[in-house]
Amino acid sequence: MTVAACDVADRAALAGLLDGLTGQGDPVRAVVHAAGAAQATPLTAMTADELRDVLRAKVDGAAHLDALLPDGLDAFVMFSSIAGVWGSAGQAGYAAANAYLDGLVTRRRARGAAGTAVAWGPWAGAGMAQGEQRDQLARRGLPALDPDLATTALRGALDRDDTTVVVADVAWDRFAASFTARRPSPLLAGIPEAAADRVDTPAADPDAPRALRDRLAAAGPAERDRMLLDQVRVAAATVLGHGTPAAIRAGRGFLDLGFDSLTAVELRNRLTAETGLTLPTTLIFDHPTPAALAEHLGRELLPDAGGVTAEIDRLERLLDAVPGERRDADVTRRLEELLARWRGDAPPAEAPVAVADDLADAGEDDIFAIIQREFGKS
Ligand SMILES: NC(=O)c1ccc[n+]([C@@H]2O[C@H](COP(=O)([O-])OP(=O)(O)OC[C@H]3O[C@@H](n4cnc5c(N)ncnc54)[C@H](OP(=O)(O)O)[C@@H]3O)[C@@H](O)[C@H]2O)c1
Repeated sequence: MTVAACDVADRAALAGLLDGLTGQGDPVRAVVHAAGAAQATPLTAMTADELRDVLRAKVDGAAHLDALLPDGLDAFVMFSSIAGVWGSAGQAGYAAANAYLDGLVTRRRARGAAGTAVAWGPWAGAGMAQGEQRDQLARRGLPALDPDLATTALRGALDRDDTTVVVADVAWDRFAASFTARRPSPLLAGIPEAAADRVDTPAADPDAPRALRDRLAAAGPAERDRMLLDQVRVAAATVLGHGTPAAIRAGRGFLDLGFDSLTAVELRNRLTAETGLTLPTTLIFDHPTPAALAEHLGRELLPDAGGVTAEIDRLERLLDAVPGERRDADVTRRLEELLARWRGDAPPAEAPVAVADDLADAGEDDIFAIIQREFGKS
């Protein structure tokens, strides 16, 4: 085996290297393309220059190898990445570069040439996935792959003559929960281990939801709102690992507070256990601040109190919008009747009977007075 180095994105340099090897009577029988440049930049901040640099080694290098080497190779191995298979935060260019490698070997296979792309999960030891990034991936259900296991898997892929294959150590329960936090994933549909959703659900106290409902029902509206907000702030602080909820401000967005798709699921699970409600994994995306989420929980936990109050608020706004000259006596009467019923007042006496009695011996002026009294108009 010969190990030779050059800038693989430089076609002339690579051609010179390959010609040199062939000239020494050592034609290339197999190639492993493992060059690459890492990336950790949000898509919105990525510049064209950065994208070019990230694509350079992987895409240009692979394309040159494909063009310069004969089709009859024993192996044409591309080191690809899970970033190109299911995406990875901050790695838009890197993901695209790896997806190119997967596409390239598929195209080679179509013309009868060798080609295997291994989309690796994070490796342990030296390499691209290190430090905070490795910890973050492990928290999302992608613990670092043992290098011995990885090379065994590589041998297996070559023995099986795989075209594209993912080799990753995946903790499916954690991975699936965070991967599907914003939307379901057909990609995982065929993986039974990924169907479970069990991320760090705190041991549920079966009495907690009822106790919470009772406390809320006994509280006044302002106290109830405060209790619900506290519930959300404390749960959010616990999930983010804060000692106190002081930093969890009511109006601040969960994403600005540091939530991601994994911690979103953890918060959902914690609040599910505390409230007894069935809450979606999209909870913090649907209700993006602690205040909005607390309001939502209040509506779900005490639908009567919250629902009626919300409708009265709506009616109040509607009535305020009616100009004075268009305020209808019929509306006033119905509101008064409603209030009387709500208070449990006795129903009013039957008006027609009283009118009939009065009319029996009334003169013309009396009749107009009665109409004025009973119907508010003459
Ligand atoms: N480690 C992981 O967890 C992991 C996971 C998934 C996929 N992979 C893939 O596996 C491969 C190896 O990863 P790694 O962890 O060993 O990465 P690494 O430590 O960053 O090594 C990448 C290597 O590519 C070389 N390189 C960059 N541009 C080049 C170019 N234009 N021509 C020739 N060489 C160039 C770098 O050389 P210089 O140092 O001289 O720049 C470096 O030696 C990469 O393709 C990576 O995408 C790795």
